[in-house]
Amino acid sequence: MKQIGVHVTIAMDGPAGSGKSTVARLVAEKLGLLYLDSGAMYRAVTVLAIQNESENDISKLIALVKTCHIEFKDNGKKIFLNSEDVSVQIRTPEVNKLVADVAKVPEIRHEIVKHQQKIGEEGSIIAEGRDLTTIVFPDADFKFYLDASVKERAKRRFAELQAQNVDTTLRSVEAEIKARDEKDISREHSPLRAAKDAIRIDTTGKTIEEVVDFIVAQVTFKLTKDQNNYTEG
Ligand code: C5P
Repeated sequence: MKQIGVHVTIAMDGPAGSGKSTVARLVAEKLGLLYLDSGAMYRAVTVLAIQNESENDISKLIALVKTCHIEFKDNGKKIFLNSEDVSVQIRTPEVNKLVADVAKVPEIRHEIVKHQQKIGEEGSIIAEGRDLTTIVFPDADFKFYLDASVKERAKRRFAELQAQNVDTTLRSVEAEIKARDEKDISREHSPLRAAKDAIRIDTTGKTIEEVVDFIVAQVTFKLTKDQNNYTEG
């Protein structure tokens, strides 16, 4: 594992199944960065809504979000909501269905974004989600936008679910992804879009390793160049 000597922020956005979380996790390991799965935080808030039956009571949910405690452990692999490990609960079909509606509420986003920015101050980080390159870290040192065709994204998600013995069909996974994409792209606050200065990577037909190697190469090339300019100047 390389260790980056300066404070570096890598922000990455893209739709569901574009490969962001797997890629970001591996880049974090290779470069010794903190990994932030921002979607897991919106998923934890959705679990909070379900636990408190406040899915349809937005003011109650906003109040709960303001006082709840969300914490990552094990470099982003585990997420705790008010000290309870909800790492498995956040991936249920019920959460998949509800999360985009919870995440579109501006007051909820405001609280979560503040929390994410605070995590970003703790050290060099790679953070991924829907608004990391545009809203959370608009001045990130590196920005990437990952995408793939909806068919490919659904196939990947379906394979993951099959490996976990989840009873579902490719068709329903594709429908769920399309519905979530639609909500994330068309919402009023912080819609999913590629930042103008983000490097776009179409991951269709590419292996995870190819994408990880590309990103690591971009980062190390620029950092080495900056370092050389600094010592020469
Ligand atoms: O990345 P993941 O698929 O786990 O995200 C779940 C949902 O959380 C997304 O579909 C989106 O509605 C919401 N989200 C968001 N902003 C982020 C990350 C996720 O609105 N930065």
